[in-house]
Amino acid sequence: MGTLGEQVSGLEQMDKLVTLCKRRGFVFQNSEVYSGLAGFWDYGPLGVELKRNIERFWWNYMVRRRDNVAGLDAALIGPEAVWVASGHVGAFHDALVDDKNSKERFRIDQLLYHNEEDAEAAEIYALEAIAAGVADETKFWDGLKDKLGYYPLNPNTGKESRFTAPRQFNLMFKQGIGATGEGGQTGYLRAETCQPIFVDFDSVRVTSRQRVPFGIAQIGKAFRNEINPRNFLFRAREFSQMEMEFFVRPDTLIEQLKAAQATETPGLHDQPGSLAPTHHWYEYWQGERRSYYTALGIPDKLLRIHDHPAEKLAHYAQLASDIEFQFPFGWGELEGIHHRGEYDLRQHQEHSGKKFEYFDDDAHRQLTESGMNKDEARQLATYLPNCIETSVGLDRTFLAVLAAAYDEDVQETKHEGKEADIRIVLRLHPRLAPVTCAVFPLSKKLSGPDSKAYKLYRTLIDMGLAAEYDDAGSIGKRYRRMDEIGTPWCLTYDFDSEEDGAVTVRDRDSLDQDRVSLEEVPMLLLQRLSES
Ligand code: GAP
Repeated sequence: MGTLGEQVSGLEQMDKLVTLCKRRGFVFQNSEVYSGLAGFWDYGPLGVELKRNIERFWWNYMVRRRDNVAGLDAALIGPEAVWVASGHVGAFHDALVDDKNSKERFRIDQLLYHNEEDAEAAEIYALEAIAAGVADETKFWDGLKDKLGYYPLNPNTGKESRFTAPRQFNLMFKQGIGATGEGGQTGYLRAETCQPIFVDFDSVRVTSRQRVPFGIAQIGKAFRNEINPRNFLFRAREFSQMEMEFFVRPDTLIEQLKAAQATETPGLHDQPGSLAPTHHWYEYWQGERRSYYTALGIPDKLLRIHDHPAEKLAHYAQLASDIEFQFPFGWGELEGIHHRGEYDLRQHQEHSGKKFEYFDDDAHRQLTESGMNKDEARQLATYLPNCIETSVGLDRTFLAVLAAAYDEDVQETKHEGKEADIRIVLRLHPRLAPVTCAVFPLSKKLSGPDSKAYKLYRTLIDMGLAAEYDDAGSIGKRYRRMDEIGTPWCLTYDFDSEEDGAVTVRDRDSLDQDRVSLEEVPMLLLQRLSES
């Protein structure tokens, strides 16, 4: 038996994933019967299970197991004022160009370049040209050619074409609220889940009795009117984010506390302590987030960190890096980690007129104890916290998890004309698998609502395990059906089971088969799951 896993590469693998997703009910194109709507996807019966398992995994990792991170589930639409304050109405733009021959529309950095650096340079050049009001296309494209040494190509044909000068395009979905016309209100579908976190900062902090440093986390939908949705779930117009905003003391206060020889409060869960400057928190969250992917079953060799150059930083960021995953189509951003400073809280404080400042009584006490004047200490201890953000797309994680798990076992076959027999297997982390275990009665004679096999299945369901019951087709076919959706354990109830009261437990990856008594099976599965 050989494995094709590493050979199945690139676009071929992407095609296989998309086909598998459709065939087995993981993901469908939205509104397919009406020719589909680009950038919108529907998660089918298995997809919704996998997606929820990923969400649960993230939530446990980021919220439940930390007593200094609180959760939130805010509305999808916010008033215009929120998105003006956040900078999205004014600055959440992409530079788009039209191919004058084919009439296709592209983001300028998604044309075909020699390398990623050139794509980034072209985007910066385009944004500068837009800001300078350059509308002459010859001037723009010749200028870019002088910079790069070549003209970028149409990515679909790989050929030179005639493009318009770049124009700015705002990615927000605008929405009228209530009665339209005079007196109606304008809102926006949120472009990132973190803005409601900043807006609700004070309410969450007070009600959850959190003290800086602490975080607020949210999982939910975000909407961006992407110019070119592409690569399946990778770039969609409606997607979900899992974001956590972690609020820490500003560096100026840390310096004063150190000068006052303040006592360090040790961090929770090996976090940096209370005197750590913001960039230590940034590095800490980078490390935590990378470890998370290993826990999720994504091999570290498929991940890398990409630091953003200063001139490419988003309008809110002081430092930014991406955790990139080696998708079948190449390296791509899976998660962004950002040092947002006090940008968002200050913006919302100024625009709403409400105070977002935090009074750090511990810092105040330590400063006054060191001899600082009370008013000066109060001023220093009253601040807008700095924020470190970890922001990952749920749909991109879904795609990364599937790509990392996809494998094919090749076995020789006796079927005439067929050289090899290919077993598709999703080697998903058991806690992510949409189905944890499947019960197979060997024969219809051993099946039926009163059978022991069916009762075992009901017991597993009642214990909260995601179990399936399958009594159709040969055992080999049933194994194949379960392997390709990533089911870690299959339990076969055969004729011997009637005598020995046991089933065969078959492991998806090792293919080991153990005989286990019916009474012990549920505990064994729970144990394997918790140890996975
Ligand atoms: N709050 C910061 C923020 O939204 P971002 O880098 O724009 O930062 C964070 O987005 C993550 O959201 C990305 O790393 C990616 O996983 C996901 N994401 C962004 N745009 C997406 C899109 N059009 N389709 C799918 N996922 C997307």
